[in-house]
Amino acid sequence: MVDKKTDGAVVTPTGLRKGLTNYGDTGFSLFLRKAFIKGAGYTDDALDRTIVGIINTGSGFNPCHGNAPQLIEAVKRGVMLAGGLAIDFPTISIGESFSSPTSMYLRNLMSMDTEEMICAQPMDAVVLIGGCDKTVPAQLMGAASANIPTVQLITGSMLTGGHRGVRVGACTDCRRYWGQYRGQEIDEAEIVEVNSRLVASVGTCSVMGTASTMACIGEALGIVLPGGATPPAVTSDRMRIAELTGKQAVEMARTGLTPDKILTPKAFENALRVLLAIGGSTNGIVHLTAIAGRMGYDVDLEAFDRMSRDTPVLVDLKPSGQHYMEDLHRAGGLQTVLRELRPLLHLDALTVTGRTLGEELDDVPAFTQEVVRSVNDPIYPVGGIAFLRGSLAPEGAIIKQSAADATLMEHEGRAVVFENSEDLALRLDDPDLDVNADDILVLKNIGPIGAPGMPEAGYLPIPKKLARAGVKDMVRISDGRMSGTAAGTIVLHVTPEAALGGPLALVQSGDKIRLSVSQRSIDLLVADEELKRRRAALVLPTPQNAERGYRKLFFEQITQADKGCDFKFLRPPTMHGRIPTTP
Ligand code: FES
Ligand code: MG
Repeated sequence: MVDKKTDGAVVTPTGLRKGLTNYGDTGFSLFLRKAFIKGAGYTDDALDRTIVGIINTGSGFNPCHGNAPQLIEAVKRGVMLAGGLAIDFPTISIGESFSSPTSMYLRNLMSMDTEEMICAQPMDAVVLIGGCDKTVPAQLMGAASANIPTVQLITGSMLTGGHRGVRVGACTDCRRYWGQYRGQEIDEAEIVEVNSRLVASVGTCSVMGTASTMACIGEALGIVLPGGATPPAVTSDRMRIAELTGKQAVEMARTGLTPDKILTPKAFENALRVLLAIGGSTNGIVHLTAIAGRMGYDVDLEAFDRMSRDTPVLVDLKPSGQHYMEDLHRAGGLQTVLRELRPLLHLDALTVTGRTLGEELDDVPAFTQEVVRSVNDPIYPVGGIAFLRGSLAPEGAIIKQSAADATLMEHEGRAVVFENSEDLALRLDDPDLDVNADDILVLKNIGPIGAPGMPEAGYLPIPKKLARAGVKDMVRISDGRMSGTAAGTIVLHVTPEAALGGPLALVQSGDKIRLSVSQRSIDLLVADEELKRRRAALVLPTPQNAERGYRKLFFEQITQADKGCDFKFLRPPTMHGRIPTTP
């Protein structure tokens, strides 16, 4: 499928030159480039082939990518079987637990690294190896902008472990045990013991957290191989997917199947459906918005909410349900979900295989299993995420209703306000804190600018004295995010954020707030006059240490949650429109 340009360079149908010739002149610069890479022992035969770059995000600080060496070996095998040459190279890796101030602060940096290194080096296709929460979105954002043939390979979930006869997995159970420890239900010795049981192998969190959500979204978008979302990290299925991914990358280079043909509005609508149906992480909406933004589409959150009303949650995984990722894999993986959702999907959307989603689903067998429910017997009747608006969040907020307490979803209460994370840490467990179970906990200044990087601090712990009295859930509100592994009646992504002077900045302890998930509203019940007075006296926090470097760029460029928290200059200069356009 390649042809010769007049200067002798080989080009693909997309106009990309092939292999080492895909930039620079084919005289001296090619001679030099070949001479240098031959230092690694390559023959001309090897170098004259379709070149597939493999992005290695293995890192000692990122156990979620701990299988990267084996995956790279398997991808290389696939590339070679298809007649190509595989060359791996590193980019930034972001491990969720070791990224300060927060992994989200680094996501856009990783997307820039990914885009620029794909463009800078001579490759005909690229395999992105990612898994931990921010890595898959960062890679898809970068690859969408680079637009050479791309396949996303997921590292895969970790295995579950066992603690005193109970099956456990990170990190929904991390929170559960820590909650028990705070409530003095388990002792010091047990919390130390369970710490070694929660993460049983390398790989990503074993529940429907952000990593699993993004893996499923990748497959729904068609940019991950069919069946590629769910094989656990240490299984032979995962290695076979890696080998097939390498093979497919060579094929895509030959046919010129670039991301712009796959990441279409229809694909994004399929992914939004899937996000709702899997009870996916609230972070999924921010990341999908950012990826769609790179392709020139804004996500219309009100239309997404309408979509939510006729998309039931089908996947019975923690934190919305009871199973783990390895169970979903045994139940047929995301393909079982897609088959159930079939009437709601755009079946003509193209996947990395060159076939449509519908064609791929035709081959998926039906069988009895316990993890993916049917549309007629869902785990939750509507989509996992609801979009809220109101005087407290004029540009919107979200709640993961499938993981919330049904009795709190229509609730009016007194605000107990914390100005920022430090204030929260200082006062939350104070025995003298004036707080009751039916109050609403409000945390300000953990938005994209406020913290910075919109940390997953929106899961405010229940104040110790209430936890000890048996309180399990309260309405909590912030401009931050929440881990996909967490559950509770938690309103997130309040936009505009407090640090930008959004109404959230004006809330004071004792104010009344009303949450109505059925009305999709979140309101601050304070008179306009009083709010005007408070606004006049409002002093916004100034970003700290923002005079230079990436931090300066971050503060200058970061957008709010409704734009995916991407950098302004990374979005295309003109947008094509808004999605979803249906229903
Ligand atoms: Fe990496 Fe959860 S910490 S996926
Ligand atoms: Mg997470």
